Amino acid sequence: MTPYFEFANPTKLCSGAGAVDNLGYELEILGVHNPLLLSDAVLEKIGTLSLVIKALQGRKIGRIFTDVPRDSSVETVNEAAAQYRAYGCDGIVAVGGGSVLDTAKGVRLLISQTCEDLLELMGCECLPAGKRVPFVAIPTTAGTGSEATAVAVIRNTEKNIKMEYISQQLMPDVAVLDARMTMTLPPRVTASTGMDTLCHAIEAYSCLQKNPLSDAYAAKAVELVRENLLHATRFGHWKEARLAMANASFLAGAAFSNSMVGVVHAIGHALGGVCHIAHGDAMNILLPAGMRFNRKVCKAEYAQLLLYLAGPEVYLKTPEQRRADRAIAEVVHLRKKLNRLTGLPLTLKETGADPAKFPEVAAAALNDGAVIVNPRQVTYEAVIRILEYCYEERGDDHGRH
Ligand SMILES: [Fe+2]
Repeated sequence: MTPYFEFANPTKLCSGAGAVDNLGYELEILGVHNPLLLSDAVLEKIGTLSLVIKALQGRKIGRIFTDVPRDSSVETVNEAAAQYRAYGCDGIVAVGGGSVLDTAKGVRLLISQTCEDLLELMGCECLPAGKRVPFVAIPTTAGTGSEATAVAVIRNTEKNIKMEYISQQLMPDVAVLDARMTMTLPPRVTASTGMDTLCHAIEAYSCLQKNPLSDAYAAKAVELVRENLLHATRFGHWKEARLAMANASFLAGAAFSNSMVGVVHAIGHALGGVCHIAHGDAMNILLPAGMRFNRKVCKAEYAQLLLYLAGPEVYLKTPEQRRADRAIAEVVHLRKKLNRLTGLPLTLKETGADPAKFPEVAAAALNDGAVIVNPRQVTYEAVIRILEYCYEERGDDHGRH
């Protein structure tokens, strides 16, 4: 076991059918009477946001800000914070996917630190508590786990880089998980974001900073993904499956926020930056190859994960020596099914990634913080081998990396 570890998850979870209807009560407890409601134009258009507005009927909403783009930026955060101040808001309600939730985290940081430009807070690790800014997160995807993490990723448009802000102060006071919020997600997005959740859980369970608490969260997340991702993808209106996936996302987020991720995320972040591949798609493509790369040093962890990836019957029937390989095979099998259902890409070639850029991707991956805690040392050559393998191979064979 890790000789020393820390685990923090101060976020109150409200999960269930109709959980959003309790939002007014939660705001009352937090002392919020004039919230800034953050969301995006798509959620406004398809009516997801109106469910939240309806839940706040009879209560004052200081300002509704729906100008959050797909990849939030410093400018967006600064503008939303300016509106928070201009409209005298006293708390934040964020309704959206990772981009909206991360924007809300940025706004909270600016208001609490009485600062007008997020760039001024770049690289600050130990910020003072500052002004209290109550924050409720209502995720509308089941993937990033941002509602349970101390991390915000914000784009620096000037330098064309994604900046990571990490602080306990970024964790929401309340996360509301309601199946109605993810019901309209198309199958392809459900599958892609679900594989991001699975990847958070598997990497949190096998990275160097794993600990007993993050393990418990990660293991349960894997089990919920196994039981519900295919149902949620195939039958979008299956409330139980949607709610279970929202819980899996929260659990996996809390797990990796308190341990870390690994080589799959390091390469995935780099592929996103250099080749603009959607994060969940990259996770889906890279996961089996990343697991095979790490297998040699975390055979025991993968063997344990088989119980959650395949259930007790398969786990007990599989000889101990073969459990790690079987766990990887279960991931490969799930990917195949999702590919058949939604066309979720299995190779980098299908995404249009240019192999000529792989050296640039590998260099960026080695600069990613996640490689430091990957259980096996990651080299430039290893990343290139993984990228080349994932370019054309569909991950079915058991080749080593
Ligand atoms: Fe991720």
